[in-house]
Amino acid sequence: MKKFFIYLILIVLLIQIIRPNKNRSETVSATAIVAPENIQIILDKSCNDCHSNNTNYEWYHNISPISWIVSLHVKDGKDHVNFDIWTSYNKDQKKHIIKDLKKSIETREMPLVGYLRVHPEAVISDEENQELLDWIATLKSE
Ligand code: HEC
Repeated sequence: MKKFFIYLILIVLLIQIIRPNKNRSETVSATAIVAPENIQIILDKSCNDCHSNNTNYEWYHNISPISWIVSLHVKDGKDHVNFDIWTSYNKDQKKHIIKDLKKSIETREMPLVGYLRVHPEAVISDEENQELLDWIATLKSE
């Protein structure tokens, strides 16, 4: 039993060597989506940790394997939509993303449930949900 814990501690220490790159951009994105202020506030508090070039990290996000999970979520999220590169998407990509956005907000699939558990401030109220849907309806793929 004692040996087991020694091994466990060694493994936990060893995996700290593998540190994924942080999703932090130093520059303001010239290709970012332009949204009304009320929407920008919702995107910042509920979406942009995983769908922009800037994630707000907490201290525990530096610990492996938490850092790996966060990094995978951010990569996966940005692959679907990155609000910081909105104007660089082509017409088809935008069309596809707008459809996905509508669906993800209607079904309340986003933000991810696991994220809301540790970020209660990111929960979207019914009113905010409606504001998002109204805004998504105004997005154009051109
Ligand atoms: C904790 C990270 C995280 C947050 C916060 C988050 N997302 Fe996501 N999002 C993901 C991941 C991971 C995926 C890809 C996997 C999936 O679809 O579950 C994704 C997928 C999506 C997709 C594509 C869905 C599809 O059907 O293909 C859209 C659109 C989206 N997110 C919008 C949003 C919006 C809008 C918000 C804020 C209201 C948000 N997300 C918040 C991580 C996140």
